[in-house]
Amino acid sequence: MINKVGFIGHPIDLEHLYKMLGPWAFFARKIAPYQLNAMLKNIPPYRLVSVKNIRSAKNALIDCHTIICPLMPTAMVSLDEEFVLKKITQAVKVAERLGAKIVTLGGFTSVVGNEGETVSKRVGVPITSGNTYTAALAIEGILKAAYYMEIDLARATLAVIGATGDIGSICTKVLSKKMQKLNIVARNEERMNVLMREVQHDGRVQVETFKYYKDAVKNADIILAVTSAVSTIIEPENLKPGSIVCDVAIPANIAKEVVNVRNDVFVFEGGLAKLPYQHEIKDRVFNELMPSGSIYGCLAEGMVLAFDGKFENYSIGRGNITEEKINEISKIARKHGLHLADFFCGYRFYSEDDMESIKRNAKRNILSGKFVKR
Ligand SMILES: NC(=O)c1ccc[n+]([C@@H]2O[C@H](COP(=O)([O-])OP(=O)(O)OC[C@H]3O[C@@H](n4cnc5c(N)ncnc54)[C@H](OP(=O)(O)O)[C@@H]3O)[C@@H](O)[C@H]2O)c1
Repeated sequence: MINKVGFIGHPIDLEHLYKMLGPWAFFARKIAPYQLNAMLKNIPPYRLVSVKNIRSAKNALIDCHTIICPLMPTAMVSLDEEFVLKKITQAVKVAERLGAKIVTLGGFTSVVGNEGETVSKRVGVPITSGNTYTAALAIEGILKAAYYMEIDLARATLAVIGATGDIGSICTKVLSKKMQKLNIVARNEERMNVLMREVQHDGRVQVETFKYYKDAVKNADIILAVTSAVSTIIEPENLKPGSIVCDVAIPANIAKEVVNVRNDVFVFEGGLAKLPYQHEIKDRVFNELMPSGSIYGCLAEGMVLAFDGKFENYSIGRGNITEEKINEISKIARKHGLHLADFFCGYRFYSEDDMESIKRNAKRNILSGKFVKR
C-alpha cells in the first residue's frame, strides 16, 4: 500500500495566489486585493493537487495531497486566532479524509497554534510543523555557503533575526558552537535573554542581543533570517560586503531584488530540499508552487516521515527541537535520498562563476569602502 502525506499550504502573497488559481487568476486580478482577502475568508480549505507515486532512493512510494488553507500570512496573524485555527483544522481534516497518514503544516499554518500543538489535539492524524528538517537544511546551507565564500566560522559573526523562534532558536544553538560572535535579534527581550544564557557556553562565544536588525547585520558575516514577519524587513544597503544571507522565512525577510542591488553578497533561500527523483514530478501546479526544482523543508519533512512509515507527531510545540532530532531527521532524509537543494536566489540558481564574482565584488567594495559600515 502506498503511504499518503498531506501538506497544508497557503497563498504566500498575491502572485502566489494567482498561480494557485490557474486560469481563474484572470478574474482574480480584476478584484482589488482587500476585496480578494475578504473573499478568501469565506472559502473553505480545498485540495489543490495530488501527486502520486513519489519515489525515494529506497524505492518507497508515497502520494502527496496538497490542501490549501486559503488565508494569506497577513490574515493569519491579524484575524481571530480561533477562526484561523478552525480553518487549519478543516484543511487537515480534508487531508485525513483523503487518507493521509501524516500531515505537515506549511509556512504560517504552524506559526499559528504553537507549531501544530493545538491542531494536533483536534484531529485524528499525526501532525508535524516540518521545522526540524527545515532547521537542519538551513544549518547545512549556511555551512556550505560559508565554505564557498571562504568565511572562517571561528572568526566570524552570525546574526540570527527571529532567533527566539522555533527554527531560529535551534539554529542559533547548533551554530553557536562554531562561531566567534552571535548577534541575536527578536522583539521580546525576555525570550532573547533566556536564549542568550543558553548559547553563551561559559563565555566561549560572545553573544549580543538586538532589538533592531539593522544594528545586528551591519558587521555580520552570516545572516540567518527566520522571522514570522509578514513582509520584507532587511534592506540591502545594510549588508556587509562578502556576507551571506540565508533567508528561510516564508514570506521572505529579504526582497528578491537584493541580488540586483548587491552583487557583493550571497543571498539564498534556505531550508529547501531536493527529492532524489524530483525531475519525475511533472505536475505543473505542484511545481509552480515550489521554489524552482526543489521543495520546502516543511513539506520535505512530511515526505521523509511518510517514506519511512514514521507516523507520529514529530515537530510539534514551539522550542522542542533538539540537535539529536535534527541528526535523526537528517539521517532518515539521507537514507531516502533527499538532500539540500542547490543555492537558489529567488530567480535562478547560483553557479560557481557567480560565487567567484561575488567574492571579487566584495573584495573590491571592501577596498573602496563601499557599503562598509563602521
Ligand atoms: N523554508 C521552509 O520550508 C519553511 C518551513 C517552515 C517555516 N518557514 C518559515 O520560517 C519562519 C519562522 O517560522 P517559525 O515557526 O520558526 O516561527 P516562530 O516560532 O513564530 O518564530 C518567529 C521569530 O520571529 C520573530 N518575529 C516575529 N515577527 C517579527 C517581526 N515583525 N520582526 C522581527 N522579528 C519578528 C519572533 O520573535 P519576536 O516576536 O519576539 O520578535 C521569533 O523569534 C516563518 O516565516 C515560516 O513561514 C519556512
